[in-house]
Amino acid sequence: MKSKIESMQAEALAEIEQIDDLDALESARIKWLGRKGAITDLLRGLADVSAEERPALGQAANALKQAIAQAIEARKGSFADDEQPGTGETPIDLSLPGRRPPKGHLHVISQVTEEIVGIFSDLGYQVATGPDIETEYYNFDALNTPADHPARDSHDTFYVNPGVVLRTHTSPVQMRVMEKNPPPVAVVVPGRVYRVDLDASHSPMFIQLEGLLVDKGVSFADLKGTLDHFLHKLFGPNAKTRFRPHFFPFTEPSAEVDVSCSVCEGSGCRLCKNTGWLEILGCGMVHPEVFRHAGYDYEEYTGFAFGLGLDRIAMLKHAIGNIRHLYENDLRFLEQF
Ligand code: PHE
Repeated sequence: MKSKIESMQAEALAEIEQIDDLDALESARIKWLGRKGAITDLLRGLADVSAEERPALGQAANALKQAIAQAIEARKGSFADDEQPGTGETPIDLSLPGRRPPKGHLHVISQVTEEIVGIFSDLGYQVATGPDIETEYYNFDALNTPADHPARDSHDTFYVNPGVVLRTHTSPVQMRVMEKNPPPVAVVVPGRVYRVDLDASHSPMFIQLEGLLVDKGVSFADLKGTLDHFLHKLFGPNAKTRFRPHFFPFTEPSAEVDVSCSVCEGSGCRLCKNTGWLEILGCGMVHPEVFRHAGYDYEEYTGFAFGLGLDRIAMLKHAIGNIRHLYENDLRFLEQF
């Protein structure tokens, strides 16, 4: 029996050494080590040998089993190596092009901002900016918004320190621009603004664009003409606009502007809540009290101002259902625009 074990070992190892694919290796494993394999037969044969011989033969049979298993593993490892480029037979293809890092692009809000700023710079407007952390004076008082105005409530405004807030709109930059520049001025002001507000169409941080034009003889007709031109550029020549009377403390008279729904073109759909109109912006003629704070002569100069939410414009243009998509930075969303 001892010599049988030795010859089996020689035979098995020689056979495994020849094998060069995984399927054949598995067949060999079954043949030698399987439940009905050669080793099982051998162990069964141990029952017939004498009690003195049995322990030594049992040990030899187990050693054989281990040797075969190791040989199979080693063979398997040698195939795996061959599959690594450069270590086996497979050569590296040096002519393959490298992988380029993916190229980014502007966020959808930045795209909308550039488009809108572009429309106004064609009209001669300049871009101005102001701080996100603003004093109550610029955010409210200078804009004729008294201390008891509901917008100043802590339910609506983030207070940083007494007298210091996260600006609730870009309108304070109107005052900052006028303080530094004598009339005439024509500016647009894109920027982040903050309000205590959170639902599908409101985020505590969102992005506005303010517009301000001041000169001699500016009238409400100029405001209408400018905004009509802007909205037709943005939504196409067939878009209709509608001015509704409204109230803002820092403009008089004031209006809200609607544009005909870009999805249903006015017949009514989910986006426009069946009204056919989308509310787009607030505007009005600059209040004389604002000019007084700025040190402008309100007998000589008039002007208009407007403000709109750029996130809202992006949502309307691309039929985006939830404002949070804009701020979560999920590439699956961002790559669509
Ligand atoms: N600041 C106003 C708002 O955030 C919008 C506005 C700007 C209205 C300029 C009139 C003039 O709601």
